Amino acid sequence: MSKNNFYRGSIYHCIESNGKLEPIYIKDGLMVVDTKSGCIIEVGEYISLASKWPQSESLTHFKDGLIMPGFIDTHVHYPQYKVIASFGTSLLEWLKKYTFVEEQKFIDSDYASQVAELFLDEIVKNGTTTAMTFCTSHKQSVDVFFAAAEKRNLRMVAGKVMMDRNAPKALCDSPEDSYNDSKELIEKWHNKGRLSYAVTPRFAPTSTTEQLTEAAKLLNEYPNNGDSKGVLLQTHLNENDKEIEWVNELFPESNNYFDVYHDHGLTGSNSVFGHCIYNTDEEYLRMSETGSKVSLCPTSNLFLGSGLFRLDKLESFGIDTALASDVGGGDSFSMFKVMNEAYKICRLNDYSLDPIKAFYLTTLAAAKVLNLDDRIGNFEVKKEADFIVIDLNATELISQKMKTASSISDILFNLMTLGDDRLIDEVYILGQRAYKK
Ligand code: GUN
Ligand code: ZN
Repeated sequence: MSKNNFYRGSIYHCIESNGKLEPIYIKDGLMVVDTKSGCIIEVGEYISLASKWPQSESLTHFKDGLIMPGFIDTHVHYPQYKVIASFGTSLLEWLKKYTFVEEQKFIDSDYASQVAELFLDEIVKNGTTTAMTFCTSHKQSVDVFFAAAEKRNLRMVAGKVMMDRNAPKALCDSPEDSYNDSKELIEKWHNKGRLSYAVTPRFAPTSTTEQLTEAAKLLNEYPNNGDSKGVLLQTHLNENDKEIEWVNELFPESNNYFDVYHDHGLTGSNSVFGHCIYNTDEEYLRMSETGSKVSLCPTSNLFLGSGLFRLDKLESFGIDTALASDVGGGDSFSMFKVMNEAYKICRLNDYSLDPIKAFYLTTLAAAKVLNLDDRIGNFEVKKEADFIVIDLNATELISQKMKTASSISDILFNLMTLGDDRLIDEVYILGQRAYKK
């Protein structure tokens, strides 16, 4: 085995320094990857690096390909793989009619394992190399997911749904059981290889105060500690008007929906809140004060008719934000589609989402939201070489559009507007090929 692997082609990634994005586009670039660790040693112009590195047979040349960091999907539900494209309802009805029905099947770990494999095949084929996913309330739904991810060397975040009310009995646990199961799963999987655990109370309406308190106990027991990363928290916030009314009835003692989580000790820089469409200014402020993070889910918000988020507000409050598919509320696994719908939602608020920013929100910003930006998200030295190779001629239309592109921004905007899984030619995990179209 050669000591290093070499990849030549057009390379795009984005770095961030002092809060400023610096897009880097190298027309004829070289990426050097340490074969053993799968980490990046050097990235630069081919012409300046070629003489330094003896490449021999370990060079792969993507002649028409654009090399980019793999996408990171910061909010998705792998058990909802088959719930995708369910007709005609808004959030609360959709949960009852489709989602809670499907999730009950995950009591069967063979079924759960089959869906986990299908899900991982599908996201990788769409160029997504890391995801933070909800599992179901069954402990085994987490075990099979992490086992499948581990087998493929994927960097993944997942957690057992905690839910002790307002859901079918078969899906409900208790505060004690959800604590004990989650703790066992954390001990087994958290920081094992490339895997991390997220404590996962589904959302405030399906947890009692007692259960939210148990969730906070777990966050406190597994905090960030030097180089060792603490567990994350994932949940939903301010997605739907009826949901918000319901939360106000269930938790009258809290000031607002965000404060329901805050009052139970569930906010902070390890906590990622999905949606946040209807945040009040007070909630944006509280999120920013606590360093809490946000996952925006445009395809889901449009598919379920939930509403239009305000990226401009999140930015003005300085809240770390990323994009996400939220399948099965979302109707696509493609982060190109997610960026496309995000662009349109922003347009409805008279804001034009810059393509450099859109790709940032699906790579480096997403890594930051998951506290993984020291490992993934761009091609800085020592980061893990999870990358995709995009075929810029995958469709006639894209190929024709690319002829008129005069900058990397133009190229990226064509991709996010017209792209889908057909563009993903190859996917590499830790420098090893995991998918070829
Ligand atoms: N709120 C609570 N559960 C869910 C879910 O599964 N999907 C979405 N989109 N929102 C939720
Ligand atoms: Zn969700």
